[in-house]
Amino acid sequence: MTQALAVVLAAGKGTRMKSDLPKVLHQLAGAPMLAHVLMAAGSAGVSRAALVVGSGMDAVAEAGLSVAPDAQVFLQQEQMGTADAVKAAAPAYGSASGPVIVLYGDTPLLRPETLRAVLGELDAGADLVVIGFEAADPTGYGRLLFDDKSRLSGIREEKDATTAERALTLCNSGIMAFRSGAGLSGLIARIGNENAKREFYLTDAVALAYQDGLQTRVVLSNGEEVLGVNSRSELSVAESLMQRRLRTAAMEQGATLVAPDTVFFSFDTVVGRDVFIEPNVFFAPGVVIEDGATIRGFCHLEKCQVGAGAKVGPFARLRPGAQLAAGAQVGNFVEVKNATVAEGAKVNHLTYIGDASVGPKANIGAGTITCNYDGFAKYRTEIGAGAFVGSNSSLVAPVKIGDGAYVGSGSVISKDVPNDALALSRPKQEERLGWAEKARHERGGDKSK
Ligand code: UD1
Ligand code: MG
Repeated sequence: MTQALAVVLAAGKGTRMKSDLPKVLHQLAGAPMLAHVLMAAGSAGVSRAALVVGSGMDAVAEAGLSVAPDAQVFLQQEQMGTADAVKAAAPAYGSASGPVIVLYGDTPLLRPETLRAVLGELDAGADLVVIGFEAADPTGYGRLLFDDKSRLSGIREEKDATTAERALTLCNSGIMAFRSGAGLSGLIARIGNENAKREFYLTDAVALAYQDGLQTRVVLSNGEEVLGVNSRSELSVAESLMQRRLRTAAMEQGATLVAPDTVFFSFDTVVGRDVFIEPNVFFAPGVVIEDGATIRGFCHLEKCQVGAGAKVGPFARLRPGAQLAAGAQVGNFVEVKNATVAEGAKVNHLTYIGDASVGPKANIGAGTITCNYDGFAKYRTEIGAGAFVGSNSSLVAPVKIGDGAYVGSGSVISKDVPNDALALSRPKQEERLGWAEKARHERGGDKSK
């Protein structure tokens, strides 16, 4: 079969979102809805995409191109219906012989398996395939109509339906595929707008194809994956369904989630085998957790990598560019940004490691801060292998702590420390014997005794 093309409709403004952001750019699991649709098409082997946007939607085009760089973008000036929207992309399929699948940019839960089933039907001889679903409440959807031989004969839009037709519950998801671009062009050319909404309905293509004696078929999906998002509350429903999928996938790959409902993944989170995730963890995009790592409760991770067997948290924040090697430990109230923590190194308590490298088996004491920013620029801190940084030290970057070096607690280190040296920068301690006793006496006795 020649390469399939996905025509993704995204010209709708999405007024019900009450947002300055075009609807399809609202996010689900860290990626715009539109990106999910394009990714699903890509994983189903539909590598070509045509995106239909409305005027002033440059951001939509940009977001689409960032996922599908070869996509062609088409403008639909005025929204005159789904057939008109598909027509706007005609230059991408025009007289082509390959299949065309029409997708909606606001249907982010569509699974590649279902798209593959649609392509399979085309392969097996269908000319037009509609993804249908059984709706608990069919209000607002187009109803699928069948002839007495159970062949799909048309789709009736809600506003044009008779009472009997309205009682039907098998609905059109909106997703439709056509054997060839040329065939689609021919059908669209014959679609008019004599209907309740005065719109050009793509759904009219079904009756036309059926009357031409073409093979029209339905692929059934569950209602969940064709859920269209029109409002913020529908977005939250889609998010929770997406999270459920991502949690299940992580567990199927061999991760333990103690309380799955409290762990939030991004679309691209990679979780290895025997990873252990405690409750209340948030994975923003770009996170890779390697085999056997433990993420304890209340951590926030973004664009970072956690090596095999490493331990993170509880209450740790890994920001972009944090890379923990195998067996590294990052403990409670520790923030790591743009920094590597090498094998077996420990950063266990109340610390900020930013723009830094921590050498293998180094030990970073509680309250250590890499002072990486002077208000103008960022500088690096390099901590050598096996170095020991005492608690409550400030490492003023740019600065290097040598391999095996010691930094005394409470030091402010602003010069490089050679390998195996001890660096101390704190006032010398003095003791005044009997001073306290005398002070108490002068102030009228010891209140604690
Ligand atoms: C459409 C289907 C209906 C189906 C339902 C599923 C038609 C005529 N009806 O109805 O059978 O049950 O979806 O949700 O196709 N769009 C454009 N330009 C336009 C019009 C629409 O880009 O001129 C885009 C919208 O942004 C949206 C999609 O196409 O992503 C569907 O349009 P919408 O107006 O929501 O169609 P429905 O009335 O819901
Ligand atoms: Mg709709």
